[in-house]
Amino acid sequence: MRADLLGDGGYAGAVARLFDSVTPENELKWEVTESQPGHFDFASADRVVGFARRHGLSVRGHVLVWQNQLPAWVADGSLGRDALVAAMRRHIRALVGRYRGRIAEWDVVNEALAEDGGPRRTVFYDTIGPRYLEMAFRIAHRADPGARLVYNDYGVEGLGPKGDALFALVRRLVRDRVPIDAVGLQGHLTTAPVPGLAAQLRRLAALGVDVELTELDVRLPDAAGADALAAQAAAYARVVGACRAVARCRRVTFWGLDDADSFIDSAYPGYGRATLLDGDLRPKPAYRAVLAALRGR
Ligand code: XIL
Repeated sequence: MRADLLGDGGYAGAVARLFDSVTPENELKWEVTESQPGHFDFASADRVVGFARRHGLSVRGHVLVWQNQLPAWVADGSLGRDALVAAMRRHIRALVGRYRGRIAEWDVVNEALAEDGGPRRTVFYDTIGPRYLEMAFRIAHRADPGARLVYNDYGVEGLGPKGDALFALVRRLVRDRVPIDAVGLQGHLTTAPVPGLAAQLRRLAALGVDVELTELDVRLPDAAGADALAAQAAAYARVVGACRAVARCRRVTFWGLDDADSFIDSAYPGYGRATLLDGDLRPKPAYRAVLAALRGR
């Protein structure tokens, strides 16, 4: 959810009424919380966390270590290895420490895998080396031993090179006793079925971690007609149903409340209408399909 829309009663009311958990969409990202080294700004994040508390919603913390939406002083690669490790430690401790007991779960590392399943070349990987990932989890765990820690990525929802790489990564983290509690599959999807979704959920759960859909949306081509809304509803129902069928798949989070605030239109030009509610907050067929899938019908 977004702090800048909290003043909109329709938006805020719908979030509070429909959900029991929220994710700040941008408010906890590094460029927002620590735009200058060691200078933290939690004003927007506090607004979301405060809203959640008033309405009895839990908060997913998104995100601690990610290569996007970084401030220039981190992104430009000017920090050497020790300085970047120290910056990462300070950043993680500041965020996790501040919200200890209020943010129950964190996306610790986001999108560390490249499309071919290899490691993504980021400032963290290039400067620190592959171990930055487990370092981040250990730092977060020490900052709040009670927080649930998540590895989050996209394009890993099914079987295939990247989905297989995710499985291998999580298996290694578990084997090395890295404090990881869950895997987040973002789920920025089209209406096409995801090959191997059920198998991926099952084999990840079998490693002894929880699984969740963390950023679900199903985009439609702009020109698509009314039948596209039915295909979208079916796609949503398939994904939510697949999660429901696996005991360790514990949560589905939707990215954007409604078609007016979704990031899809800008991230995927030519696509839109990806969420459960239309731009006037009216339920779409997808909304009813998700409710039915959650109830197991
Ligand atoms: C997106 C936000 O929705 C946009 O508002 C922002 O401009 C860019 O980031 N994967 C993630 C999210 O993990 O943080 C991204 O959120 C969408 C893709």
